[in-house]
Amino acid sequence: MEKDELLKALCLPENTKIALEVVDSIPSTNDFFKTTSDWGLDSDLQIVIAETQTQGRGRFGNTWFSPAGENLYLSCQRRFNTPPHQRSSLSLIIALALVQALEPFIKPVDLKIKWPNDILYQSFKLSGILIESRPQDQVVIGIGLNINMLGDEHGVISQHWTSLKKITAKHFNREQIAAALISRLAHILPEFEQKGFSAFKEQWAAYDYLLNQEINIKVGLSDSQIVNGIARGLDDEGYLLLELKDGQLQAFASGDTSRVNLVYY
Ligand code: BTN
Repeated sequence: MEKDELLKALCLPENTKIALEVVDSIPSTNDFFKTTSDWGLDSDLQIVIAETQTQGRGRFGNTWFSPAGENLYLSCQRRFNTPPHQRSSLSLIIALALVQALEPFIKPVDLKIKWPNDILYQSFKLSGILIESRPQDQVVIGIGLNINMLGDEHGVISQHWTSLKKITAKHFNREQIAAALISRLAHILPEFEQKGFSAFKEQWAAYDYLLNQEINIKVGLSDSQIVNGIARGLDDEGYLLLELKDGQLQAFASGDTSRVNLVYY
């Protein structure tokens, strides 16, 4: 990843200052900010990108496969002056920023968002997001995006996955993709901070993978904490609305969702 090439391709809002670091190898880009707590604090966004991660982390304790030089492993730290409850919809906004940033590169391919924040192409996972809170209202947003990866020789990825190259049969310039994503984040995050999720609800709905599908939502660690129903979109807070068997709507703030009766081919 060429830092200068990335910086040249950025299109930031006026007066936005970013700090950017590109490293070869790191355990996890999300952990970068634990050890360098005051790096770049005078900027609006602090961003670190790694060529590879030796201990890339996913949600629910999963590992994030991070082969060198093929994909994007990026973490971004930002201070949010919003009440913590509003932050639960932040992951939805990051997913929205990702699909919007990618669209010009892969037109007319349709990407979907599986609530809360997996980016899918035809049910195969293209990108994952891991958000972690830090002291003093800082939030670290970790994004893993499969770009030019074609194989997983050792079969270590437990999920059905894809990459931009698998989808389009084209090779992508990672600097251009990273710049488009950072630029979109720099625009959308201040707007989200001001207006909340409801201002983006309609845009998000256009990518809703679960809408009107029968789904399971796992709300705890054990299988007994699975709730079944029909997904009926999101409310103004970004909570998932589930229509239960008795017709009642229940709102969920978090959970792991899957479509029932999904066949991969
Ligand atoms: C998921 O499980 O879907 C979330 C995956 C998040 C992976 C990214 S890669 C960059 C950042 N560093 C990490 O260790 N994880 C996130």
